[in-house]
Amino acid sequence: MSTIIDSTAACWLAAEDAAAREERQAGWYWAWGTLPAGVTQEPKLREFVWDFHLDEPLADARLLIAAQKGLPGVWLDGQRVHESADMLSGRAMQDLALGTLAAGAHRLAAQVRIFHPFIAEPRQGGLAALLRGGGRFLSPQPADWRTRVGSEPGWHLGDLGPEWLPASAPAEVIDWLPMPAQPARLLRRAFHLSARPVSATLSLTGFGGCEAELNGRRVGDALLAPENSDFRHRLLVQQHDVTDQLQAGDNAIGVMVGDGFYASEAIGRGRYPFGGAPRRLWLTLDITLPDGSRQRIATDEQWRAATAPVRFAEIYHGETYDARLEQPGWSSPGFDDGAWDEVWPAPTPTCTLFLQESPPIRAKLTLRPQAIHQPVTGQFVIDFGQNFAGWCRIRVRGAAGCTVTLRFAEILGDDGQVDMRNLRAARCTDRYTLRGDPAGEIWEPRFTYHGFRYVQVSGWPGTLVADDIDGVVVHSDLPVTGHFESGQRILQGLWHNTFWSQRSNFVGMPTDCPQRDERLGWTGDAQVFWPTAAFNMDVRGFTRRFLADLRASQRADGAYADTNPPALPAYGAHGWSDAGVVLPHTVWQHYGLDAAKSLIDEHWESMERWMAWIADVNPEGLWRARREVDFGDWLSLDAVSLMDETTPKLLTATACWGRMLGLMADMATATGRVERAAHFSGWRERVGHAFATSFIQPDGQIGNGSHTGYILPLAFGLVPAPLRQAAADHLAAAIRARGTLLTTGFLGTPFSLDVLADHGHGALAVELLLRTEFPSWGYMVERGATTIWERWNGDTGDVAMNSYNHYALGAISGFLYRRVAGLASAEPGFASVLCRPLLDARLGAGRCTQATAHGAIASSWGVDDCGRPWFELELPAGVSATVALPGREAQRVHAGAHRFS
Ligand code: BGC
Repeated sequence: MSTIIDSTAACWLAAEDAAAREERQAGWYWAWGTLPAGVTQEPKLREFVWDFHLDEPLADARLLIAAQKGLPGVWLDGQRVHESADMLSGRAMQDLALGTLAAGAHRLAAQVRIFHPFIAEPRQGGLAALLRGGGRFLSPQPADWRTRVGSEPGWHLGDLGPEWLPASAPAEVIDWLPMPAQPARLLRRAFHLSARPVSATLSLTGFGGCEAELNGRRVGDALLAPENSDFRHRLLVQQHDVTDQLQAGDNAIGVMVGDGFYASEAIGRGRYPFGGAPRRLWLTLDITLPDGSRQRIATDEQWRAATAPVRFAEIYHGETYDARLEQPGWSSPGFDDGAWDEVWPAPTPTCTLFLQESPPIRAKLTLRPQAIHQPVTGQFVIDFGQNFAGWCRIRVRGAAGCTVTLRFAEILGDDGQVDMRNLRAARCTDRYTLRGDPAGEIWEPRFTYHGFRYVQVSGWPGTLVADDIDGVVVHSDLPVTGHFESGQRILQGLWHNTFWSQRSNFVGMPTDCPQRDERLGWTGDAQVFWPTAAFNMDVRGFTRRFLADLRASQRADGAYADTNPPALPAYGAHGWSDAGVVLPHTVWQHYGLDAAKSLIDEHWESMERWMAWIADVNPEGLWRARREVDFGDWLSLDAVSLMDETTPKLLTATACWGRMLGLMADMATATGRVERAAHFSGWRERVGHAFATSFIQPDGQIGNGSHTGYILPLAFGLVPAPLRQAAADHLAAAIRARGTLLTTGFLGTPFSLDVLADHGHGALAVELLLRTEFPSWGYMVERGATTIWERWNGDTGDVAMNSYNHYALGAISGFLYRRVAGLASAEPGFASVLCRPLLDARLGAGRCTQATAHGAIASSWGVDDCGRPWFELELPAGVSATVALPGREAQRVHAGAHRFS
């Protein structure tokens, strides 16, 4: 069970400056408009007008304004004061200097883009604004604005006609407010110890990114903490043993607080996506002295605060650091903080504090530049040869005030410069201003990360060489448990690319992608990938923490969110929310019941509610009702637009439901829930029957004949036994008919090759695996991919939805472990092994290991001089295997090394 931390042990300190506090306290209000009756066509733009009166002039007026989506224009008294063609930029706060406003009447007008999420009803557009100047604030309430849609040029001038209606507050609560981005803050406290402690534990968290130093030395090596979560409910606390960093006498602790995950933007919600300003710091330092006495240093009114050299830091957009503003010694005793600000308390949050028990995010590898070129004089483009998540560390020497800019991207344009179009609104730019140290300066960011292979550096003093820059690979530090090595280039490339996509996307949460303005914990991507993820890394702690968050945001009616934490208004999608059942089941299968029992127990009631959410309204056993967001077989080959139904969604939904019911029944049996096992088995039968009746023809044809339409029911055991082979043969024929290629998307792809190999079409599976023409995994490898693409046509697909580092299609790597290396678990936790390698000479030679609770299992394979495949298996003590080689009787082998040829 998760450990709860007593949040009353310390107080919450605001990490904001006085100006930000004033703005926050002045209040912000979202103003909204709704469509006039009779208007059916969704407009793209909405206009707002606020007429206000100043009794006295407003000196140095500034308008802070944000829109729910884009903000094409703002006018003050008929003069345009802001213009932006950017579709999404409105969500970032605009800070507009307006000069001094005279006493009298004024009009502020703004045009906003209406948010049309393809996953939900269009929102009718809204904005929030705050006018400040000379220490005064004007914050318009919704009814202060009048609004309309579809205005002609000059709409903001003159009298407003009757079509201008008072704006209203948004119908749904917009729980983020667009506070402007702020520099990070330094918070520090000096304290005295009568002796050197025998033990000391620092418990650290906050709303925002928090990096602690004790007596001038950084605490621990965890990065990007506190990690992402649904901050309305859960906040993770990291604990560090800091005994060695303390001393008798004077000590000091300092924490730099930036925006971090809490205050950075999340697509769909904007900045502060799960709570409001201000950023906050909370910590306790519990010390035991040699005489047994205890002392606690905590966040309280004795702290002092100052602005930090981090001038801007945002997860999507990057970090700006001015080294001239460093205050050497700020976290050491003896530092004079007399000129620093007093601290003030922040509102106490309602979330619960949990000890982070999953592995923290760490810097795991350093990459060296593979090539550096200069497409334009003064610009250096560095290729690290590998797409990854993290950042760059630079070593630079130059004049004080010189600013180096780093722009990150996955691809290059034809001009040799970084192509950032597929990053959408994410600016992915770091800036470092030198302090001018003649000995040189080393810098890396703290509160952002990027998904990239290339970085373009400008403003570098002199010529940048390879030794000046490192690629720092950053991810959740899960133990690596699987290794696959193959002499066959495509297989090796596929495994490598998948492993790197896992690395890049296991950053606190399992994300869809590490680069564009998304990086969300999409549950669909996670559930299709989890069985593969578990081969590569030990995902136990990571899963437990992910599920805890999923439960925290589970809707009252039982639906799970499609993104965890729920950044978008999307819940209960089939193939996505399935994660709530598939993940615990995967942990059980991969690590055994001892490892999974408590995880399943703590999650059980939540899964029951999720299953009931579907069953309650679909008594006949087809998942017809409550398909709120219907992604279906996402990004399948034949889909022209995103929500296309290339496989009937009633089919994919019902198949997913049938699968979940089976997993529930199995988990119920394993954990001794006899009655629930019968309940879920009963439902499983009902759904199986309804599925067969609705979608399977007497000759084994299924659905509309799409590949996924066959793959899911075959993989999930929904095809009656007598028809299975015929259905698999139809699938194989359909694949051949398309030219021996797969048309599958996110849902069908992961199971495609197992279904073929399990039904006597292993040779076809091998052909698909080794295929290099479009579409295929080999096509990505051949085109130089170093991670898995989001789309089969990543090289030509729509840039607005085209990540080069998305692991979903890489879920097929599980097949490499299972059917190339022959290492599948026959009983939960690899208590015994099902060894069914395809032993196809085209697969070449290779070897594989899998760490299990019983020890390492290893296999190797190859082809002898006469072209005959051979296979070796090594089992640890106490583990046996059923070895079923193609065309041979299955045999049982036990611990030790075995060779088959
Ligand atoms: C993400 C996907 C995700 C999907 C939902 C995308 O924007 O990148 O991986 O699962 O939306 O359909």
